Amino acid sequence: MYTTSNLDVEKTRKAAFEINPLILNRWSPRSFTGQELGDKELFSLFEAARWAPSSFNNQPWRLIYAKRNSQHWNLLFSLLADGNKSWCTNASVLVVIVSKKTFDYNGKPSITHQFDAGAAWENLALQAVTQGLVTHAMQGFDYEQAKRELNVPDDYEVMAMVAIGKRASREKLSPELQKHEAPNDRKPLSEIIMEGKFGNKVGLL
Ligand SMILES: Cc1cc2nc3c(=O)[nH]c(=O)nc-3n(C[C@H](O)[C@H](O)[C@H](O)COP(=O)(O)O)c2cc1C
Repeated sequence: MYTTSNLDVEKTRKAAFEINPLILNRWSPRSFTGQELGDKELFSLFEAARWAPSSFNNQPWRLIYAKRNSQHWNLLFSLLADGNKSWCTNASVLVVIVSKKTFDYNGKPSITHQFDAGAAWENLALQAVTQGLVTHAMQGFDYEQAKRELNVPDDYEVMAMVAIGKRASREKLSPELQKHEAPNDRKPLSEIIMEGKFGNKVGLL
């Protein structure tokens, strides 16, 4: 079992029932060191994404990446909204996650392709924690431009972008961003778990 303790996380995140600490230790910082990431480290993250479950094992996720100081970095970076650019400038890798909307086996629409791609992203994010890395998903970028400029075919949909890197100190951020540089909390289970029908309360909670 993964047991690394994380002081930032312990201050704000308390699990209501016992869970693997790995799950609480994944959060989305914005302060990155700007170090480059080796291919072995990076491809372990992609490998984790690969093993996500999906409807009919269709594996709709596709991951388009650019490492900092590489040929494609500026292209992916240029897609970002200004707010995200301000801190992504120190990320090690940017990844655009794309999902195939149809099943390989019959060409029909997959209702769950986004759900499946989400599972792949979470696998990647949790694997990053085990490697001492951090990830930050983003919707703040130009989806149309991404589709066009990354040559994404029409039966694929752009899902999200992810910044990956090594975490730096909070103080490296602007005062405004420093305010948000901490692990956040979650809704209580009583708000999200329903027994039998939508809206039904659960006695245990
Ligand atoms: C699909 C998705 C899109 C997001 N978009 C942005 C974004 O554009 N900019 C940003 O700073 N954070 C973004 N976030 C980060 C969320 O705000 C963050 O995941 C959420 O507050 C939960 O916090 P945690 O990841 O630290 O647990 C995004 C997260 C997800 C999953």
